Amino acid sequence: MRVQEIPRAEFLGNYFDYRPGEHVNIIAPTGAGKSHFLYQLTERAMAEYPALRVCSLMPKPSDSTTESWAHNLGLAETPVWPPKRHFWEPEPAGHVLWPRHIKDDEARNRAHIGDQFRHAVNDLYWQGSSLTFADDSYLIGVIYGLNSELDRHWIAGRSNNASLFTSLQKPSGTLQGAVSSFAYDSPTHMFFGRDNDERNLRRISEIGLSQIDPDQIKSVVRNLRVHRIGNSAVSEMLYLDRRGPYTAIIGI
Ligand SMILES: Nc1ncnc2c1ncn2[C@@H]1O[C@H](COP(=O)(O)OP(=O)(O)OP(=O)(O)O)[C@@H](O)[C@H]1O
Ligand SMILES: [Mg+2]
Repeated sequence: MRVQEIPRAEFLGNYFDYRPGEHVNIIAPTGAGKSHFLYQLTERAMAEYPALRVCSLMPKPSDSTTESWAHNLGLAETPVWPPKRHFWEPEPAGHVLWPRHIKDDEARNRAHIGDQFRHAVNDLYWQGSSLTFADDSYLIGVIYGLNSELDRHWIAGRSNNASLFTSLQKPSGTLQGAVSSFAYDSPTHMFFGRDNDERNLRRISEIGLSQIDPDQIKSVVRNLRVHRIGNSAVSEMLYLDRRGPYTAIIGI
């Protein structure tokens, strides 16, 4: 397998061939540029399919990458779902669902955030023609309890044109909860950032695309280049397009 290198702008402009109902998953360590890239992919999808209902689920109390992209893409922030509407405001291009965190009561916090996310994910799934952006699917699935809703999207979203775009830091999850195998088997578009943890590499290489050699996936992912940007080590991404399968390294 020869892995071609494609600059990011060229990939976004010419090669990212997203169709409604397809899923995306980006797996990379913290600070590798997952959120930024997932928003870039979402921006392309929105440009091509302006009628898509877009909602980004934000499980962290704050995230500057999400704040600036919400602004860029015209996504209105809402702390609850469904969002409150004012008749004098134009319909936004989409939403960021950013529930308020309850600091001193973790059980109530989990229940409250989980409920808001569940309302939105159900809505987006049943109405279809949607793009659910679940940034950090471990937090959303395991900590806030939406694993079965995410699985339903992975498995059956395609037939409703309900896409799931997610990111993940650790490919296997933790002792608190495992990452669903559907997060590997269902996305048409998979991206991996540089990782040199042997366990993570093993999981990534088991993606099960028969024409692609697991050892080669490991060695490409281990050797992806990173750029230091502020405090972050932003990574090139290995792209696997399940339809081919095709592979490429996407620049920063
Ligand atoms: N391709 C890029 N070009 C320029 N800056 C980038 C690029 N990708 C990411 N950044 C910047 O690097 C920082 C980290 O990116 P980002 O927040 O997307 O990482 P992340 O993997 O989502 O991190 P976390 O795991 O903490 O959520 C941000 O300040 C972001 O704006
Ligand atoms: Mg992020």
